[in-house]
Amino acid sequence: MKGIRLDKYLADMKKGTRSQIKTDIRKGIVSVNGVVENSPQRKITSEDQVCYGKETVSYDPHRYFLMNKPAGVITATKDAKERTVLSLLKPEDRTSDLFPVGRLDKDTEGLLLLTNDGELAHTLLSPKKHVEKAYYVRLDGVLTKEGIGELERGILLKDGTRCKPAQCEVLATDLSLKTCEVVLTITEGKYHQVKRMMAALKTHVSYLKRIRMGTLVLDDSLTAGTYRELTKEEQNKLMESIKH
Ligand code: URA
Repeated sequence: MKGIRLDKYLADMKKGTRSQIKTDIRKGIVSVNGVVENSPQRKITSEDQVCYGKETVSYDPHRYFLMNKPAGVITATKDAKERTVLSLLKPEDRTSDLFPVGRLDKDTEGLLLLTNDGELAHTLLSPKKHVEKAYYVRLDGVLTKEGIGELERGILLKDGTRCKPAQCEVLATDLSLKTCEVVLTITEGKYHQVKRMMAALKTHVSYLKRIRMGTLVLDDSLTAGTYRELTKEEQNKLMESIKH
């Protein structure tokens, strides 16, 4: 870690606003390597041990945000014409190194992880890790037992690509309207994968929402377009799940 100012170090670790922190530093509440430090400008490196009162504050520059992506925005960091998921972040959260982990189509809603942790993103997206992605899907068309069997064995897409086995749970079927709702769980991330899997069964996806990615679950408290930081527990569970 390059040296960063003590007040920024503590603000980055959410110990308060920059001005509260400066006041506390001047009051003598903060120590560096066991010695009270009164200067907010003091440069801190990874060698230093910073204590805020009795609490040791270690530095983790990584950010993890769980967003409920709304329809109508694209999963990119920049675009000349379209609104991106990053535009939904508050200015203080919108650091230039953040990016979305994987892609959702413009009309797809739901769980999207935004981070600046390249290693985690790489591992989560690695085909070798088989991280499960669960989608709530509304279909024009109904699924037959045979169709579900094809999804479960690994369906052949129209272009000849064979998908890995998926899980498909039918939530509801309306035979008069010829529609159904399912939860489809896949372990890959091919382009338009869910839509293409359903098209191979001659059905059309009318609504798509990602509800889970690995151990991360989209909770009801996040309405479309809102986001929050991952809890420590969610972070730990996610890291643990992709370790091996
Ligand atoms: N599959 C799709 O077809 N679209 C998405 O956005 C995600 C998965």
